[in-house]
Amino acid sequence: MWLMVVSVPLLPAVLMVSTRFRVKASALCRRAVAWVLRLVRGRVCVRSTHAFVFSECTHGRADSVLETFDLYAKTHPSLCISPQTAEAVGEVMKRVRPSRVLELGTHCGYTSVHLLRLLPPAGRLITVELDPLTAELGEEIILVAGFKHTQFQVLTSSSAEAIPTLRSNLEPDEGSSEGLDLVLMDHDPEQYLQDLLALEKEELLRPSGCSVLLIHRNQRAEEVRGILDQIRARVDCFCIRTELQVLTEVFYQRGDSQRDR
Ligand SMILES: C[S@@+](CC[C@H](N)C(=O)[O-])C[C@H]1O[C@@H](n2cnc3c(N)ncnc32)[C@H](O)[C@@H]1O
Repeated sequence: MWLMVVSVPLLPAVLMVSTRFRVKASALCRRAVAWVLRLVRGRVCVRSTHAFVFSECTHGRADSVLETFDLYAKTHPSLCISPQTAEAVGEVMKRVRPSRVLELGTHCGYTSVHLLRLLPPAGRLITVELDPLTAELGEEIILVAGFKHTQFQVLTSSSAEAIPTLRSNLEPDEGSSEGLDLVLMDHDPEQYLQDLLALEKEELLRPSGCSVLLIHRNQRAEEVRGILDQIRARVDCFCIRTELQVLTEVFYQRGDSQRDR
């Protein structure tokens, strides 16, 4: 009884605080749900993914590497993009026909192998991974798939640290214009906007046109909308070209070369 008497005067303050922190509370709830799900389904294990793919695939065959990843994902928790997302990425790759691609978030190399498979022989992929062990295992899988270090480079770093150093990794090769033709972000959605703007600031996106693919996993619709609204506000150089549930294609073109948007 005495507890009720004490708590009633506190009610307006509790209500005010709870409204103010509703957004934080809901984010906390989502993290708790993700944590419980992880506990129930098991953790994504980079070592186990790598060991399975390494021992079960046919070395030197990119198709076999991808099939083995898909097989693993049928029975284990996996962070690799889904076949539906891979198909959407493949469609953009076939349309854009990029030669210089940047991937943020290598993980075990599934998307890297998928991208490399669709690049021309002279094409090049730079892929950035924050975690050193993951980067090492991902690189090994890319080599197992049959690709050479002349075709790709794994940078062990956070995206924010890697971006300002990327220019030195993008030596202009014969016949290709400067900058990246395609960027795929599947690292940390909270970094997507910041990294996109950093890539623009560093003039790493090809001025005549660059597609930036933002992969959506468990992001809430309003989080995605928040990012896209800020991108749409930059009408001088960005537009949204494709909007799917699993990915968004942002198209970059610098003002002086905006003709065929
Ligand atoms: C969802 S996984 C990428 C999966 C990959 N696309 C595939 O299909 O195999 C995200 C990866 O990004 C890495 N990562 C997270 N934040 C990062 C950051 N800020 N910079 C670079 N890598 C990051 C994580 O360590 C993880 O390996």
